[in-house]
Amino acid sequence: MMPFDALPLSPMLLARIRAQAATGKAALAAHESQIPVQRYFADALWQAEKEHLFGKLPLIAAHSSSIAPGQVLAHDAYGVPLLLARSSEAEGAQLRCFLNVCRHRGMRLVEGNSAQAKASLVCPYHGWTYQLDGKLRHMLHAEAFATCAHGERDLVALPCAERHGLVWVMLQSGGRLDLDIFLGELNPELAWFDLQSHVVHRTVEAEYDANWKLIMDAFLEAYHIRVLHKNTIYPFFTDGITAAEYVGQAGKQHSHSLVARRPVLEPFADPQNHSELRKLVTPTQVIFPNTVTIFHPDYLSLITLYPVGPERLRWTHRMVIPREKSGPDWAAHWDKTFKLIEQGVFQAEDIHTAVQTQRGMRSGANTHLHIGRMESGVGWFHAQVQNAINTTQETA
Ligand code: FES
Ligand SMILES: [Fe+2]
Repeated sequence: MMPFDALPLSPMLLARIRAQAATGKAALAAHESQIPVQRYFADALWQAEKEHLFGKLPLIAAHSSSIAPGQVLAHDAYGVPLLLARSSEAEGAQLRCFLNVCRHRGMRLVEGNSAQAKASLVCPYHGWTYQLDGKLRHMLHAEAFATCAHGERDLVALPCAERHGLVWVMLQSGGRLDLDIFLGELNPELAWFDLQSHVVHRTVEAEYDANWKLIMDAFLEAYHIRVLHKNTIYPFFTDGITAAEYVGQAGKQHSHSLVARRPVLEPFADPQNHSELRKLVTPTQVIFPNTVTIFHPDYLSLITLYPVGPERLRWTHRMVIPREKSGPDWAAHWDKTFKLIEQGVFQAEDIHTAVQTQRGMRSGANTHLHIGRMESGVGWFHAQVQNAINTTQETA
């Protein structure tokens, strides 16, 4: 087995957890900070986030296991009608992303939100037919379209890649999707968690009346666990012991952190693999701008967010489980687990808090939210949002 210090996750993170566990007290960051409340409702910031973050950065659209060879899947969670299409095994099982819009008069090509097997894509309006590689193959009464040059009316493709068992897209056609650069040090770490050998058990999509960053904030600090989650997950965790590092390209826009579970309060040996690590701590990442990974002891919560409006978000939670535990014998176990985490913890506690917080945001009670020294991840994230808007504006 690999010694822990040869594993991709920084050993410094675990050393910092050990040091806090020795005293039983959470470490304090150097500074407190403040966040202006306008960040949670200003229309101009919402527009800038959509344009410069969601419009220009790679986003996770699916787990690879959700689209088998020869299948297509409509995806609307990012406010743009996307169509993911995987060619057949014979054609290389390549995944592509298109706008889900017919190039004749704009009809939606694929409806529904589950994967469907298709040999080709036939528009329900006048029957224009596209191959799964996006090429227009057939126009009914082609003689009526003599001025359309060959290739001119193929589907509009968007940048798309698969890595770490995940499907990544960019909403801007012609954008450069370079995951080596974009993910940086998260690449070996995500590979270590081996998500390509997992499958999606359940997906929940819902909209809530809160700014999307309020949910991100909740996943960036462990200070709230003792109170908000006292009857659900706090019995498994410590009182705010956590360690985070910021990684990725200039701007350090991703984070990876460990949130300490109760067993760290007893002496423990260095974990030799991620299953041992996940009994001691819960690794979690922010993959900028909108994804949170939570590596529970035996499955992953993959959460993506989208700002539907300045004060409205779309939540997508995928429960990703090991393939070898995806058989019918396991279904009751995963259903029970999913209910606890999605309904009992996320909906009833974290999302509920975001919605209730949003209701008072414009009240004038606070001009700024005050971020304490056990919540520095929140301040870091808001700085990244600001940096990314400034950087992509400069390079536009
Ligand atoms: S709109 Fe699709 S064939 Fe006419
Ligand atoms: Fe929480």
